[in-house]
This record gives sequence, C-alpha cells and structure tokens, in this order.
Amino acid sequence: MEKRNIIIDCDPGIDDVVALCFAAAHLDKFNILGITTVAGNQSIEKVTENALGLMSFLNSDIKVARGAKGPLIREKRPAAHVHGENGVGDYQFPHTKTLYSNNAITFMRDAIMECDGKVTLVPVGPLTNIALLIKTFPEVIEKIDLLSIMGGATFGGNITATAEFNVWADPEAARIVFDSKLPIVMSGLDVTHSCGFFRDDVNNMLKSEGKISRMCGEILNYYFKGDHVNNGTFTPVHDASAIMYLIHPELYAFRHMPVTVDCSEELGRGNTIADVREWFEYDKTYPKVLTGVDLEKFRELLLEGIYGLDEKVR
Ligand code: RIB
Ligand code: CA
Repeated sequence: MEKRNIIIDCDPGIDDVVALCFAAAHLDKFNILGITTVAGNQSIEKVTENALGLMSFLNSDIKVARGAKGPLIREKRPAAHVHGENGVGDYQFPHTKTLYSNNAITFMRDAIMECDGKVTLVPVGPLTNIALLIKTFPEVIEKIDLLSIMGGATFGGNITATAEFNVWADPEAARIVFDSKLPIVMSGLDVTHSCGFFRDDVNNMLKSEGKISRMCGEILNYYFKGDHVNNGTFTPVHDASAIMYLIHPELYAFRHMPVTVDCSEELGRGNTIADVREWFEYDKTYPKVLTGVDLEKFRELLLEGIYGLDEKVR
C-alpha cells in the first residue's frame, strides 16, 4: 500500500511527543516529510528544542523546521502549568540533531510542491503556521489532500468553558484554516478526551525496559501531577488522535458539518461553533467532525505503537 506523505505541525508538548512517537512507529504507512514547530504549549524556542531533542532521542533524521513565534494577532499564552517549564514535563532529551530550516512556512511550501504525490498536514498545535502557509503560498492548496487536525470542540472547552487550547491560542489562524475549504478531519475534545491512557498504563510504561515507552511514561506522569486528568485515573493524549485517524479511521464516528471559529473576546474566543442540528445533512465538502471513538481500541493501538517502537529502535 502506498505510503501517505505527511507533515506534522506541532508544539511539543507532552502529548505531541507521544503522537510523534506513534507516527514514527508507522513508517510503513507514513512518509514523514518533516516536523514543523509552532509556539503554543511553550515558546517557539522550547518546542523546537523539544522536537529536535526527540529526534535525537529516536536517532531519527526526520527534518525539523522552526515556525511561528506566536499567534497572528493574540498574545502568547504558554501552557506551562500543563506541560511544564520546558514543555515536556521537565524531561531532558539529548541534543545531537540540528535544525533543517528556520522557516517552517517556506519549508512546508517546498516540501509540498516538490513531493510527487499529495500531502496530508497533521496540525496538533495552534494553526498559525498552516494559516500563514495557505495565505502566503496558495499554490500548495491543490496538493494538500487532507488536514487531520487536533483542535476544537463542539461542546465544552479545556482552556475556557467553550474553547479548546489550540484554537483558542490563535483563533484568527483557525478561522483562516476552517474557512479555506480544504478537506479537514477534526479531532476535537469530543473524541480526544477519550483518547489516552489509564493510570496503570503509565505506571507500566514507567517500569518498562524499553527507553521510548519509559520516556513516554515519564513525561505522561507529569500530567498526573497536575489536575489535567480525571481524578488521577485517565489522561487524554489528545494529539495522538490526529495520527490514529489516518491509520484507523474505523475507530471513529463522525458527521460532516460547518465549523465557524469565534474570533471575539472573552468567553466566545476560540469557540468552534459546529452546526450539530440533526435535521441538516451536510455534504463531504464540510469538515468531518469526529463525534465518537472506540476508547479501548484506541488505547490498545497506541500502546502497541509505543512499545512496538521500542522493538524497532533497539
Ligand atoms: O487541547 C489540547 C491541545 O492543546 C493539544 O495539542 C496539546 O498539546 C495542547 O497543545
Ligand atoms: Ca499540541
């Protein structure tokens, strides 16, 4: 089966790291053209250092390109209280790999235009880079076959009562992307709150002989120190859903529906207003909003991928 060409745009970020490991565990399915970084969970310097640190840890030659230092208009608001001061739960990665490009936008444009086939973008941080890409180089649009996005929520947020962090951090960028008519699959909080690991899964990873599964356990353990899990029993690994969908779409329920990003202030900011009215039938040109997931199967496949990567990297 032909591999899918992908670029992962991220803000590592604890769950970003697990998602990147999961993608790296499936190089039989993905041709990873590159990893681009965007300010979000932490500063652009820290998230880029974390992306390079992970590639060093995996001894991977996947290209890393540094992206936007902050949102198009809004102030930066790192999520240190969730991901730690260094962005990856204070885990110290080695640093042997160097930056391929200090301009993620031209890197993505070149990678997309030079690629023989179509390219799937996998944004799992604020959508700043993606908005800048399609506005600056609209010629890429016809070569992008899908955006598998971690972001948004049709009901209830995490950074505010209404908004999910990635969209809230840069709502103007999200508005540009959702209004672009590009094919979108939205892994919002509706599904990602059920995409993750139980406390025991993390405890087992902490005791693993494999360095990658142990590292994932150590960074995920940081989440449990905070208040970001359901009373200490389960932690979402939000970003992994944007990768999982590309490998196992059958795990998900979905509906196509218009999604409008609220760019107002206060509680409206970053709300992804989806038209969930049952009596409206929207065609496939509208975003595919994921509405349900097989939690148990997701957990099993993500664990299999992480432990499997240990075997591959040995
Ligand atoms: O709301 C979850 C998203 O915000 C994830 O991408 C996580 O990494 C943070 O960026
Ligand atoms: Ca992220």
